[in-house]
Amino acid sequence: MISKTVLITGANGQLGSDLALEFMANGYTVISFTHVLADITNFAKMREIIDIHKPQIVINAAAYHNVDLCEANPDKAMEVNFLAPENLAKICAEKFIQFIHFSTDYVFDGEKNSPYIESDEAKPLNEYGKSKLAGEKAILEANPNALILRVSALYGVRPCRAKNGLNFVQLMLKKASENADLKVVSDEFVSPTSTESIAKITPHLAEINLHGIVHLTSEGSCSWYEFAKEIFSYSGLNPSLSEAKSSDFPGKTPRPKYSVLENARLKSIDTMQMPDWKSSLHHYLNQIKN
Ligand SMILES: NC(=O)c1ccc[n+]([C@@H]2O[C@H](COP(=O)([O-])OP(=O)(O)OC[C@H]3O[C@@H](n4cnc5c(N)ncnc54)[C@H](OP(=O)(O)O)[C@@H]3O)[C@@H](O)[C@H]2O)c1
Repeated sequence: MISKTVLITGANGQLGSDLALEFMANGYTVISFTHVLADITNFAKMREIIDIHKPQIVINAAAYHNVDLCEANPDKAMEVNFLAPENLAKICAEKFIQFIHFSTDYVFDGEKNSPYIESDEAKPLNEYGKSKLAGEKAILEANPNALILRVSALYGVRPCRAKNGLNFVQLMLKKASENADLKVVSDEFVSPTSTESIAKITPHLAEINLHGIVHLTSEGSCSWYEFAKEIFSYSGLNPSLSEAKSSDFPGKTPRPKYSVLENARLKSIDTMQMPDWKSSLHHYLNQIKN
């Protein structure tokens, strides 16, 4: 049997690298492109790359997603998170290639105070969320068969490129090792999700040819403070950790207070479920310890 070819952009990101491994493990031929080799904002180059490799699936794991940098550089955020994915979606529609893209819980304003489902109205609070929402809309307009997976608060084994290589878990562990006084917000709620858990399910979602927006996060939710507490408790660490309010950090880019996603479509169409956030975190802490 000839295996399908999947082309991944942003392939050395924490999510992109796990996706490459999982698609390979599922028998796909994987062509990985990093930023240096394929800048998704170079429209002509992306067309050329797709023409040369003729993939059956294109996955865009590239993004400009450091929230503070997006706030300072909204035009760049729009270029990378809106115009470039729109271009990829158009090329894929034209060539009947399956297109999979990743978006964020930060498209919501957090006012709902209960888990958001896919059809809830998105009203982003910051430039990052605005650029990702613009990307979602443009992709689905250009390519209604595209699949957009909204994910949240990611951590993976390989470095988070946009956050100086450190995801939240690694940052907490580093701060604890430096005996820092940690103040972590307890009034912003998320569903922390491992990139491995997303990568494991994505090939199956590709196989059933799902399209539209799908929420894909760990089950359950916590504040960033509770997340930090669980990291330390499972790791047997006892650093100086206290609760803070987001208002304690004036000038911080606005973020939704509650951006928990309900995996509503996943639950209705698939027997596969996402793991709960604590079990994924424990698995991850064991992985990085080893
Ligand atoms: N991390 C989170 O907490 C989080 C939460 C919700 C949603 N998401 C979404 O999840 C997806 C994956 O994020 P991640 O955590 O894996 O991020 P990551 O580790 O920072 O990886 C992002 C990748 O995109 C690449 N990239 C940036 N600009 C590019 C461009 N113009 N052309 C090509 N590649 C470019 C980066 O390469 P360089 O580093 O070399 O520039 C990097 O390899 C993104 O769509 C993000 O918006 C992430």
